[in-house]
Amino acid sequence: MTPPRAEPAVELRGITKRFPGTLANDRVDLTVRPGEIHALMGENGAGKSTLMSILYGMEVPDAGTIRIDGRDVSFGSPSGAMAAGLGMVHQSFKLFDSLTVAENVVYAAEPRRFGLVNRAAARRRAGALAEEHGLAVDPDARVGDLPVGLRQRVEILKLLHRGARTLILDEPTAVLTPSEADTLFTVLKSLAAQGRTVILVTHKLREVLEGSDKVTVLRDGRVVARLVTAETSADAIAAAMTGRAVELDRIHAAGTPGDVVLDVSGLTTPGVHEADLTVRAGEIVGIAGVAGNGQSELIEALAGLRPLEAGHVTLKGQDITHASATERRLKGLAYVPEDRHAVGTAPAASVADNLAMGHHRTSLSHRGLLPPTSVRAHARRLVERFGIKTSSPDVPASALSGGNLQKLLIGRELAHEAPLLLVEQPTRGVDIGAIQNIHDQLIAYRDAGHAVLLVSAELSEIRGLADRVLVMYEGRITATYDKNEADERTLGLAMAGGTNERREAAD
Ligand SMILES: Nc1ncnc2c1ncn2[C@@H]1O[C@H](COP(=O)(O)OP(=O)(O)OP(=O)(O)O)[C@@H](O)[C@H]1O
Ligand SMILES: [Mg+2]
Repeated sequence: MTPPRAEPAVELRGITKRFPGTLANDRVDLTVRPGEIHALMGENGAGKSTLMSILYGMEVPDAGTIRIDGRDVSFGSPSGAMAAGLGMVHQSFKLFDSLTVAENVVYAAEPRRFGLVNRAAARRRAGALAEEHGLAVDPDARVGDLPVGLRQRVEILKLLHRGARTLILDEPTAVLTPSEADTLFTVLKSLAAQGRTVILVTHKLREVLEGSDKVTVLRDGRVVARLVTAETSADAIAAAMTGRAVELDRIHAAGTPGDVVLDVSGLTTPGVHEADLTVRAGEIVGIAGVAGNGQSELIEALAGLRPLEAGHVTLKGQDITHASATERRLKGLAYVPEDRHAVGTAPAASVADNLAMGHHRTSLSHRGLLPPTSVRAHARRLVERFGIKTSSPDVPASALSGGNLQKLLIGRELAHEAPLLLVEQPTRGVDIGAIQNIHDQLIAYRDAGHAVLLVSAELSEIRGLADRVLVMYEGRITATYDKNEADERTLGLAMAGGTNERREAAD
């Protein structure tokens, strides 16, 4: 049982943190009451993750105090924070894929018997916690085999096992499907109802409005608004974040498609069966679908990252069915992968060098070399155009905040001006103002006569951008809709495998 607490669960006073060239947190005060779900919002680079890292003992503040349950604390490490009852779910999970759910839950805090880990007790403990909190997950499943929504449950169970009373979640829903996100909020609400406290970093206004009690907004490291969710609105939060009015979920006008740029027939690879599709110049084709229905596999096959078992692919009339990823790039394909860390960027290299990657054969290069002055000028242009928040193009990419790294990746790939752009989850982790900018840039790219194949988990993004929408279900393209037919209900039904409104896929 959680003891009754009158004191704030978390009280930050005057937290200041300076990185070279950046004031990441500037005298931040934040009070979170027990039993509250408190959303922390702000533009990319506003200082949210930094503040949470300080609270969790991962970074040391330059100034300021932290009180937990009314007691002054100062953590040198996350273990100190854990001992004080804090738990954090990081955006990239820290689980052991080869271990079972039960083993991960009790890891480093195992029930023991005669000094040995008591496996039966671990299973019972994981099972009981899962039951108690409505976090159903098989204790014997291997974590590596679980979908991302269930892995996140394991992370939460792990924190509960260690007795966390306050949970910190940094963009927990960025990688979840909408229904997984709904389930997560049900769980968070029941934890809060038991007196636990939740601090949640997110860019999604809908979640904040439906799932939080209070909202604190940071801008340039400072608190600019403290709001009671029930008394505020999406527009008010957006305005506080950006200092201007933001047009949310805009539906862009359709383009004027020209010649076929990408022609795919019968593409088959594990996870994808006989996909047929075309993308024309001046056209954005969106692929909608619940995550895990073959969208990523299809894009990876088109990018040359997985071999085809059958089928045929041409790019501007050139056969690229068996071309390598590099050959495809040379023939006119740019690619924004879903995973910006593992595949997309080099964290130790500078922002400027990351922006120049892959540009060795473009106008940037001089006899195959990249002169440093062109690299820096190129970086300055893209930093400006995409609003990448960085103190200098020379800092390592690892110093960028999550959303700014995403802007870097999009900017670099658009700068290729390749005839075909494959783009997955273009605005994952990006703030609402920057989403608007990225959308405008993608539309301008299309209107300049390029072809774009877009995969997104955000239906509003697909609807706002795509001239044509394909729906993938169980590895097949099961329906195709023109922009004006692609309303939310129709797409939702098709994504769930519904056949009522299904039209034969045809181009
Ligand atoms: N290790 C570091 N070295 C230098 N600068 C850093 C470092 N970590 C963060 N910063 C800078 O501090 C600022 C705040 O970053 P932070 O990651 O807290 O932003 P955020 O609000 O979490 O943004 P996002 O929504 O994009 O995740 C950014 O300008 C970032 O570039
Ligand atoms: Mg962050």
